[in-house]
Amino acid sequence: MDKLLEVNGLTKQFSQGFVIGRVILTAVERISFFIKPAEIFTLAGESGCGKTTTAKVVLGFEEATSGEILHNGKPQTRKEKVWITQGVQAIFQDPFCTFNPLRTVDSYFYETVRNYRLANSKKEAMDWIDRKLRLVGLTHQEFAGKYPSEFSGGQLQRISIARALLTDPKLIIADEPVSMVDASLRMSIVNLFKQLKDELGVSILYITHDLATAYYVSDRIAIMFRGNIVEMGAVEQVLMKPRHPYSKLLRDSIPQADPKKRWTTSIRLSELEEEEYLRQGCKFAGRCPDVMDACKSVVPKDLYFEDALVKCHKYSGN
Ligand SMILES: Nc1ncnc2c1ncn2[C@@H]1O[C@H](COP(=O)(O)OP(=O)(O)OP(=O)(O)O)[C@@H](O)[C@H]1O
Ligand SMILES: [Mg+2]
Repeated sequence: MDKLLEVNGLTKQFSQGFVIGRVILTAVERISFFIKPAEIFTLAGESGCGKTTTAKVVLGFEEATSGEILHNGKPQTRKEKVWITQGVQAIFQDPFCTFNPLRTVDSYFYETVRNYRLANSKKEAMDWIDRKLRLVGLTHQEFAGKYPSEFSGGQLQRISIARALLTDPKLIIADEPVSMVDASLRMSIVNLFKQLKDELGVSILYITHDLATAYYVSDRIAIMFRGNIVEMGAVEQVLMKPRHPYSKLLRDSIPQADPKKRWTTSIRLSELEEEEYLRQGCKFAGRCPDVMDACKSVVPKDLYFEDALVKCHKYSGN
């Protein structure tokens, strides 16, 4: 099976200030997953579970503490600019932060076309840009010469997707791309992801709190909790017949992303986060309705079912 992206045993640690002093926080703990060509793979989980950290490491913005990242079977080298070498592009939460308010949006497009030598003339550049804008339901005419403030959040997010498409990426990493978009427009944005997958064969690493859109758009999903993937498999299986008590809780509570939070969030931890990150055994033991003695001291193993991976002591007797 082809794997566009493969992440093996990825760990990312930060030195964090805790009440008890500075300690090492394992924001991402030996996680493994892969993304196939033309697939939408989702990382879901509540705030502070390590989703953005995973994205930053895969994009090469942060260095892994350990583990490996492979693109088409080849290891990602340190500090590699994956958006140039591997056809990986990113879309972020707040499209208004992506574009400088004092610059016209089209200037970014022409800059990218120039930098990547995607066209030989102004006319060719315009056609190239127009083709990409049409993929997201816009045209060159609609956006030429306009500033970010002249667009709605939903339009600007579409524009950031078109911008990501300029270089014909194979993988788009979208970190909370709809959490700042009006609820009524969210589906239209995630629909676009589906369309890009079906029509262009692009894969998407979709990062979200929003299980409704995740369910609708994903092929496979991984549920993260305090740096660990606690359950992973086909979206139908994981969200409709979850095995892990945390997946069940998440499905029933559906926490919302905080729209005021930016990609470069404050790194201060809440007390709960701190306690759970430092917990021995299963990180979810403190909140788990099915907690057993072993959960408090022994880290659960990754258990493989036919259709899913589950990290939970409840199933270790199977
Ligand atoms: N640069 C950093 N230095 C220290 N700790 C960090 C740093 N970046 C992230 N963290 C910590 O790592 C943990 C995971 O953070 P991360 O931003 O990856 O979570 P997230 O799942 O993306 O959360 P959200 O849904 O709120 O965006 C958090 O406890 C966070 O405080
Ligand atoms: Mg995040």
